[in-house]
Amino acid sequence: MEAFKKRVLVLHGPNLNLLGKREPEVYGTTTLENINDMLQGRAVELGLELVFMQSNYEGKLIDAIQQAPGNYACIIINPAAFTHYSIAVRDALAAVNVPAIEVHLSNIYCREEFRHHSVISAVAIGQIAGFGANSYLLALEAAANLIKGTKL
Ligand code: DQA
Repeated sequence: MEAFKKRVLVLHGPNLNLLGKREPEVYGTTTLENINDMLQGRAVELGLELVFMQSNYEGKLIDAIQQAPGNYACIIINPAAFTHYSIAVRDALAAVNVPAIEVHLSNIYCREEFRHHSVISAVAIGQIAGFGANSYLLALEAAANLIKGTKL
């Protein structure tokens, strides 16, 4: 199997570097480093290799998405606020032939109305929202199944 078929790109959007201190009543007290460590531990068990990136800049996330084909089997992305309005992130995901799983810590559908719509979902394989840090772990399980060829 080609090496990239075991590699998953984990993208964290704007303000997620502040997890742990940022609105803990909404996002919990787990830091981004804790989340990445947790994912890394599970990835080893699943035989997957993860590459992490957090950016507060739309263009940096887009550059990373554009470089995914041939380098990653799957993308796990929490687009954060870009979820709700970035047609550019959506178009980047649509342009690459790499399946993406959309993740949110919070349940965006029971928050403010402007969070109820995701412009990303239509180009993602699926979305996991509302399970806190566990949303990422669930996404990793989904990615592993996708890579193995079983969607569920
Ligand atoms: C978020 C939800 C978004 O509405 C918000 O802008 C974020 C985080 C989440 O993980 O719950 O920054 O993507």
